[in-house]
Amino acid sequence: MGSFRGKDILHGNQFSKKDIDALIKTAAGFERDLKRQGSLTLLKGKILATLFFEPSTRTRLSFETAMQRLGGGVVSVASGESSSAAKGESVADSARTVAQYADVIVIRHPRIGSAKEAAEAAPVPVINAGDGAGQHPTQALLDIYTIRKELGSLRNLTVSLVGDLKNGRTVHALTELLSLFQAHLYFVSPGALRMPGEIVSDLKRRGIPVVETEDMMQAASKSDLLYMTRIQKERFTDLSEYEQVKGRYVIDGRFLDRLRKEITILHPLPRVDEIHPEVDSFPGAAYFRQVKNGIYVRMALLAMVLGKK
Ligand code: NCD
Repeated sequence: MGSFRGKDILHGNQFSKKDIDALIKTAAGFERDLKRQGSLTLLKGKILATLFFEPSTRTRLSFETAMQRLGGGVVSVASGESSSAAKGESVADSARTVAQYADVIVIRHPRIGSAKEAAEAAPVPVINAGDGAGQHPTQALLDIYTIRKELGSLRNLTVSLVGDLKNGRTVHALTELLSLFQAHLYFVSPGALRMPGEIVSDLKRRGIPVVETEDMMQAASKSDLLYMTRIQKERFTDLSEYEQVKGRYVIDGRFLDRLRKEITILHPLPRVDEIHPEVDSFPGAAYFRQVKNGIYVRMALLAMVLGKK
């Protein structure tokens, strides 16, 4: 392995199928070890810095949990207001500074391209935990790990990605990974929130079957997996536009009754109203198992970029 050692994790398009296989294998090993032993010591003496300039519950806490389960330490900036970003410090300077303290940096920032700037400035590996409406590669990797576990294979799946495909960084990254496994893709969104044109044309050029539609039922009836997303309210400059699209796609018991087939449902979370809580007890509702998988996948990423796996 070793292909991740010293690397930055910035974009869904940076991975090969071989990388993903290696990551899945390492994550599955940690899942087994953790269930047996509770915590490990592989990264004892290493320090992770999490720099979060946008809200987060799962991504920051799961990276920090992953590091601590591996015996490493964590230093953290949990909001822009509590750091020198509030005094006008650039992302590059913040990253260069934090690299003097930590062996690896995880950053989330509202601007597309910010993680790349941090990576160029910092001599330690930088992991993009969301750069605005850009990319969120570690979420996509844990999504892929979850899909493999839930569906048994990654090959030849039909997947519907639903919701805010324009601003949703998780779907931008996940599409890149799914395209490596001959997925058939349905992009389901309101007209104003379609998947960015460059992503769609790149997929088509590479021969990946893509259908863009506004009809969730029609897409779901053909799919193995529904990947729901939140309308990204914070990315709208005009809130009246948000009001027009919010609540457009909702999965509830009635929808599933009408669908009349088994389907796996994922969501990066947080949800607003896209999945009614009555769906949570449905066997295919995998989004809380998906959260748990985030720990194993982030343990694997940390160990691999630090050259310990
Ligand atoms: C996502 C994000 O921050 O992009 N959340 C997450 O990391 N699990 C999705 C979202 O906020 O809608």
